Amino acid sequence: SDPSSSRRGAFIVFEGLDRCGKSTQVARLVERLERKGDRARLQKFPDRTTAIGKMIDAYLQSKAEMDDHAIHLLFSANRWECANAIRRDLENGITVIADRYAFSGIAFSAAKGLPFDFCLNPDKSLPLPDLTLYMTLSQEEASSRSQFGEERYETVSMQSATRQQFTLVAQEVKNRHGKERWVEVDARGTIEEVETRIEGIIANLTSQGVQGEIGKLWI
Ligand code: TMP
Ligand code: MG
Repeated sequence: SDPSSSRRGAFIVFEGLDRCGKSTQVARLVERLERKGDRARLQKFPDRTTAIGKMIDAYLQSKAEMDDHAIHLLFSANRWECANAIRRDLENGITVIADRYAFSGIAFSAAKGLPFDFCLNPDKSLPLPDLTLYMTLSQEEASSRSQFGEERYETVSMQSATRQQFTLVAQEVKNRHGKERWVEVDARGTIEEVETRIEGIIANLTSQGVQGEIGKLWI
């Protein structure tokens, strides 16, 4: 029996407020893994390419209005329509790197005033990330980056309310799933500096994969 055969791909999620550098880092990471010959896939949330994703995109660009509960459920549905593909890829040994996940779902909707439990419930039993990297940057730095303000939630008051909710989300992850699944990453500095920090945190997960079954979120 070869112990390596029971290993699966790691499910790694990047979270953070808008303009903290997530998308840049996620893209560079997946490229770097592929160059090394590792199998890796980037999964963006929201995935704006699906039918549901197009409704979300219109909402975020303020081209459509929607009830807060309704858009919350669409963000969750958008994850559910990708869940089987994530599970399949992990089982086939592919590292899945997600740019946002259910944690953004809770933090942003709760920041608008929806009850925390209502925000958490629809994502129950989605694939559980093996590790979430929460990228932290001051609002002054995030706001000064180009394009801040382009989309619906990119206001200082919304970002500040979301930042508070993210601390509650982090606590919830640590309580329910263990402290080791949520790690903060300082997002200050150059792209290369942040990349080096990230590399140090995830090197073992991406090179060796993960043993054991894929967990269920919030279960
Ligand atoms: P993006 O800029 O990473 O594409 O995300 C679009 C916005 O949607 C961003 O402000 C965060 C927000 N969001 C939610 O409100 N709920 C969610 O479930 C997700 C994934 C993102
Ligand atoms: Mg954005």
